[in-house]
Amino acid sequence: MISEMSRTPLLNLALISMFIGTSVTATHTNRPRLSILTEKPDYVPLTPDFVFYNYTQTLDHFNYKPESYMTFQQRYIVNSKYWGGSNTSSPIFVYMGAEADVTFQVSVSGFFEILASQFHGLLVYIEHRYYGTSMPFGSKEEAYKDSNNLGFFSSEQALADYAQIILNLKQNLSATHCPVIVVGGSYGGSKFYLWVYTCLFKLTKLKFG
Ligand SMILES: *[C@@H]1O[C@H](CO)[C@@H](O)[C@H](O)[C@H]1NC(C)=O
Ligand SMILES: *[C@@H]1O[C@H](CO)[C@@H](O)[C@H](O)[C@H]1NC(C)=O
Ligand SMILES: *[C@@H]1O[C@H](CO)[C@@H](O)[C@H](O)[C@H]1NC(C)=O
Repeated sequence: MISEMSRTPLLNLALISMFIGTSVTATHTNRPRLSILTEKPDYVPLTPDFVFYNYTQTLDHFNYKPESYMTFQQRYIVNSKYWGGSNTSSPIFVYMGAEADVTFQVSVSGFFEILASQFHGLLVYIEHRYYGTSMPFGSKEEAYKDSNNLGFFSSEQALADYAQIILNLKQNLSATHCPVIVVGGSYGGSKFYLWVYTCLFKLTKLKFG
């Protein structure tokens, strides 16, 4: 929840916006949101350096309806090959997944590994809700079935998902002092840049690090 985040001041967050072409658009009459792509990049096998985890994610971060408290398994991938460890305050690079299976995004983000190797960083890739295996309501068919279920498919919810996972992971790894550098491509970078800046910085006193 956002309220929990505001009690955690030690999330140093920097953003690098990348612009890689995708099909996501927003018009001035619409809030920017993902369209459901008919052909999405699918699962891509990865080397054993990439370890898969699930986080039990809250369906709805902003309301208090009964269904808001439903959860789903959100996938994230960690590569600790280059990490200097929490004792050295080595950075955590977080790739904010966008409109694809997260394994596909790992496979096209080689630059991210170069960053980590240069800075002894931990690599974390978080899958966007409603993609890959991070599917609310048990299956893609159910999740995409109707507007009730699709109502939780928004960029605001996705942003809160990422914040939850990052905070949880930092605690888990005793890495609360490690700076977090958030990277995203296109939708994942540019749109989130705006929201993180406007929503989270004000609420949580995050700072660029
Ligand atoms: C994560 O959750 C998905 C969907 O529930 C499941 O298919 C997958 O096996 C889980 N992965 C891990 C590493 O637990
Ligand atoms: C990190 O520091 C703590 C406290 O000084 C110590 O107990 C722990 O062994 C260290 N961990 C590593 C991996 O060096
Ligand atoms: C976080 O901690 C849980 C145990 O509470 C563990 O099962 C999980 O694998 C940890 N995640 C990471 C990325 O270390």
